[in-house]
Amino acid sequence: MGLPEERGRGGSGSGGREEAGARSRPRSWSPPPELSRSAHVSSLQRYRELHRVSVEEPREFWGDIAKEFYWKTPCPGPFLKYNFDVTKGKIFIEWMKGATTNICYNVLDRIVHEKKLGDKIAFYWEGNEPEETTQITYHELLVQVCQFSNVLRKQGIRKGDRVAIYMPMIPKLVVAMLACARLGALHSIVISWNEGVDLWWHELIHEAEDVCEPEWCDAEDPLFILYTSGSTGKPKGVVHTVGGYMLYVATTFKYVFDFHAEDVFWCTADIGWITGHSYVTYGPMANGATSVLFEGIPTYPDVSRMWSIVDKYKVTKFYTAPTAIRLLMKFGDKPVTKHSRASLQVLGTVGEPINPEAWLWYYQVVGAQRCPIVDTFWQTETGGHMLTPLPGATPMKPGSATFPFFGVAPAILNESGEELEGEAEGYLVFKQPWPGIMRTVYGDHERFETTYFKKFPGYYVTGDGCRRDQDGYYWITGRIDDMLNVSGHLLSTAEVESALVEHKAIAEAAVVSHPHPVKGECLYCFVTLCDGYTFSSTLTEELKKQIREKIGPIATPDYIQNAPSLPKTRSGKIMRRVLRKIAQNDHDLGDTSTVADPSVISQLFSHRCLTIQ
Ligand code: PRX
Repeated sequence: MGLPEERGRGGSGSGGREEAGARSRPRSWSPPPELSRSAHVSSLQRYRELHRVSVEEPREFWGDIAKEFYWKTPCPGPFLKYNFDVTKGKIFIEWMKGATTNICYNVLDRIVHEKKLGDKIAFYWEGNEPEETTQITYHELLVQVCQFSNVLRKQGIRKGDRVAIYMPMIPKLVVAMLACARLGALHSIVISWNEGVDLWWHELIHEAEDVCEPEWCDAEDPLFILYTSGSTGKPKGVVHTVGGYMLYVATTFKYVFDFHAEDVFWCTADIGWITGHSYVTYGPMANGATSVLFEGIPTYPDVSRMWSIVDKYKVTKFYTAPTAIRLLMKFGDKPVTKHSRASLQVLGTVGEPINPEAWLWYYQVVGAQRCPIVDTFWQTETGGHMLTPLPGATPMKPGSATFPFFGVAPAILNESGEELEGEAEGYLVFKQPWPGIMRTVYGDHERFETTYFKKFPGYYVTGDGCRRDQDGYYWITGRIDDMLNVSGHLLSTAEVESALVEHKAIAEAAVVSHPHPVKGECLYCFVTLCDGYTFSSTLTEELKKQIREKIGPIATPDYIQNAPSLPKTRSGKIMRRVLRKIAQNDHDLGDTSTVADPSVISQLFSHRCLTIQ
């Protein structure tokens, strides 16, 4: 892994724009020196030393971190035991098995009593109406969590039980999750109300005591089940456990956002998704952070809402998804620049590859060229960040998630399962466990083994394609299912999407594979236009030309369809599986229960006539 070649530092102009997205050596942007000076990790060299130790001596590295937490009983046996190789038997991962603790105790009682942060605000909450606000301190949260734990106990909830929670993005949702964790019950945040089974909060909370002894859990007891978004098929119940997850989300939060006591953190994700679990609830709270919790939508009452919230609460670290960035980018710079944003220090993204156009807009307009962008690659299954820059240490390249986090050992494999060295492209896998890795698929351990460990024995297989460039930077090229083989050339849909959205008329694009009698597969593109543009054959010709120039003639799309909206999961992920069906006019869509707005699907089927071939 060679040192990245630095071509000027952030703030020195827009030279990255021409090169962004192309295969030529892209420009890198250095962390701002003023941020590096006070950062936990202040240079690339320091990052590399720490990373080497964390991978070579994971037990010692995580053992030191574990000392910062409260353990009722220490780890009696091996700190880490695992088998990643299906040919050698059952896959298992155990961190600190036999140690006992409670994650709720660690993120509340420890913060209030040990760290003396009871009066610190845990959450500023804001509803859809800007004047609808409230705030809650760590001490107040502790009281409410104890009360609700007692309510649950009275309802007969015991350690190991599963509790489904159906609530909006309000502090009480955090209370409910933590109350489950306090009792050692697994929480599972769901999407519908279950008549006859579910109970109303306000009818139960009245006389509950505000003290509640936590249930001491084994580090390897399950903490929660989260169903994956379903963007690639039938949802799986991903199981995370108490001890490892706690260490991992606390540590990634601290280093990736370079957390300091005075920060105000805002992660826009829904708590019901892994990003919300890890970076709204557990990660920030384990560090005693103050966060913003926003229940509204980013375009109400107008499209500058996000930035008005940033100014109102003096948000220092802001974390969102590329889809939100692209949405806001459509409305131009004015709604952003009319707000100060002076408090912002670090910007983050998660959920899908961020195309360089959106990255540069985020960096140049939102962050005014002074805030590093942490492009965090991870999965529901990984519990926390896997590939990511560290804001004070890592020179950034737009569109690259850069380097592995501590304890993470990535590799790129070819189809035969051989590890590729240096510059390479192939399957992204991980060679050894990190504390936050999922332990099983709920009720189906075999599916866990088949999905993640069978294809390449000895590795955790992410299902994502990845490229490593000449500087050792990792670039996610999209899900392997989103890779296309056009006339024997492997193409990533993300790369084509990136070329499409570089056109001024295109706000968002999704590309899927379509069967082709000669080429095997061809490209079918869905494009959402920016306000003020119309779909026409002139536009599609321009788009085809742009892709030919940026990537090459092999990537020229066969179909381009006007898509006023794209089908997305509630976490904002484009459902390419559904788009593939629409492209083929196949109405047998399978499970669409996770589509945020199902009307988009019929709209796209009826718009097929607007496809231009
Ligand atoms: O394909 C990768 C993409 O999102 C997948 C994981 O989705 P999910 O389990 O819903 O978790 C989302 C929140 C972590 C990955 O397999 N993905 C996530 N982050 C990035 C990304 N692709 C590229 N760059 C990222 N930063």
